[in-house]
Amino acid sequence: MTTDWTWWRDGVIYNLYSRSFADANADGLGDLQGILHHLDDLQYLGVDALWLTPFYPTADGDYGYDVTDYYSVDPRMGTLEDFDHLLAEAHRRGIRIILDLVLNHTSDQHPWFVEARSSRQSPRHDWYIWADPKPGGKRPNNWQSIVGGSVWEWEPQVGQYYLRTFLPCQPDLNWRNPEVRRELINVFRFWLDRGADGFRLDLFNAYFKDDQLLDNPPAFGIRPFEWQQHVYDCNRPEMIPLLQEIRTLVDSYPDRYLVGETFNPTPEIAARYVGPDRLHAAFELNLIMQPWSAPRFWDAIQRWESALGADDWPTVVLNSFDQPRSATRFTRTEDDARLKVAAALLLTLRGTPYLLYGEEIGMRNISLRRSEMLDPIGRKWYPFYHTRDGERSPMQWDDSPNAGFGSVAPWLPVHPNYLQRNVAAQRQDPNSLYQFYRALIQLRRETPALQRGMFQWLTFQPGQLLAYLRQTPEQTVLVALNFRRRKVRLAMGSDLAHRNWRVALSTHPRPETEILQNWLPLAGNQALILVAD
Ligand code: NOJ
Repeated sequence: MTTDWTWWRDGVIYNLYSRSFADANADGLGDLQGILHHLDDLQYLGVDALWLTPFYPTADGDYGYDVTDYYSVDPRMGTLEDFDHLLAEAHRRGIRIILDLVLNHTSDQHPWFVEARSSRQSPRHDWYIWADPKPGGKRPNNWQSIVGGSVWEWEPQVGQYYLRTFLPCQPDLNWRNPEVRRELINVFRFWLDRGADGFRLDLFNAYFKDDQLLDNPPAFGIRPFEWQQHVYDCNRPEMIPLLQEIRTLVDSYPDRYLVGETFNPTPEIAARYVGPDRLHAAFELNLIMQPWSAPRFWDAIQRWESALGADDWPTVVLNSFDQPRSATRFTRTEDDARLKVAAALLLTLRGTPYLLYGEEIGMRNISLRRSEMLDPIGRKWYPFYHTRDGERSPMQWDDSPNAGFGSVAPWLPVHPNYLQRNVAAQRQDPNSLYQFYRALIQLRRETPALQRGMFQWLTFQPGQLLAYLRQTPEQTVLVALNFRRRKVRLAMGSDLAHRNWRVALSTHPRPETEILQNWLPLAGNQALILVAD
């Protein structure tokens, strides 16, 4: 490892949905103690940082993303002391902790909003975004919420509409109000002072809306949200100076990190917010959206690479707790062959890899009847949209009751495949997906070219094969990923073919690495990583 190792750039980040990871206090919900009990497992896997989804008090309208107090821990999930303890124990193992800050909106049960909606004269009224009806009682403008319906909700107590970008129970805060801005900056300071290593900012590019609340211009699309260009309800210019202010604060603490969840992202929009005076990194969702297709991945990677400046650092993500799991998207069976190829992609591209809890054992989405669904979006749009409960099922630790998640029935059902598919079983099996992830993480840690090396395609119009180089002046890594079941060959230029390659990792026990007259043969679903020093 070189001395300028930077955890958020060179390391691997593990995103755990806090209420689904491990339940230590026997209430069916994951908690901070539960995470603490599994730190050794996470260290064994080799991850460098954890991103914890919100564990603050919540009204459960969006399971943690509707916060009722930014300065404490939901009593069902622990205490501030538990947080301090978890952080200290994680640090002792060299693991950083990234918190999820949900500062675009609060819960409608947050005392600030309760006060704000009680009267126009309330000192907190202006902490949220209000507008009078248009003549005839019409809504203030044409803005549509991403989860359906107008963004405007009527509040009879004050005779005004309030704005909600997401669900009706999540009123948007008014970042233009200096008191709000001061308070929310204070939230950063509070957690920085406690030692948090970084923040993931929920929907950050929606913090500011046009101050005139102008109508969005029309666009073509399928859902009402897509019928308009989102010009006035997000990505407003005021966001950049705010990010600068936040970054200055974050940089006044050593080695901290800011990553943003870009609302309604494209690679180009996400890239706009990354830089030395704004976010360290941002998410775009193109990779997550791809089906199992080499050309589709090629395009998505290429677009993200081209959008970012040479010094901007990508995030690489195949799974999130808002989208069906990759295992469910890429295969209908319990076979993990494709998932190993996907893992090799995730951990060898240029950028910081993010794993979603359970991805390392190939957890599949659970299926639920409508009556069993908890996710408000799944319930509202059933059967047209998937329920996010599917990818949020409890972590499968072992084959004991409740998959080792806890001693009582968990808040969401465990996937029935837990009897075979669990961490304990895969830990014992050298050929498991889990051990393959672990080997990849270790290889990445030992291989500077995989952490920081320049990225260069070897396949330009891929059919079923993706191949690329990662290079530093001292080291070259060649990654070849066969997306199909039949064998293929990679054409190598003679310069490459004559390098002194060694096999660093392969999905296939006896890798076919003999380079025959400049052709590199690959078995079906083979991921092969070669290194030349
Ligand atoms: C994005 C989060 O990932 C999602 O789970 C949440 O529902 C919305 N932001 C609203 O906060």
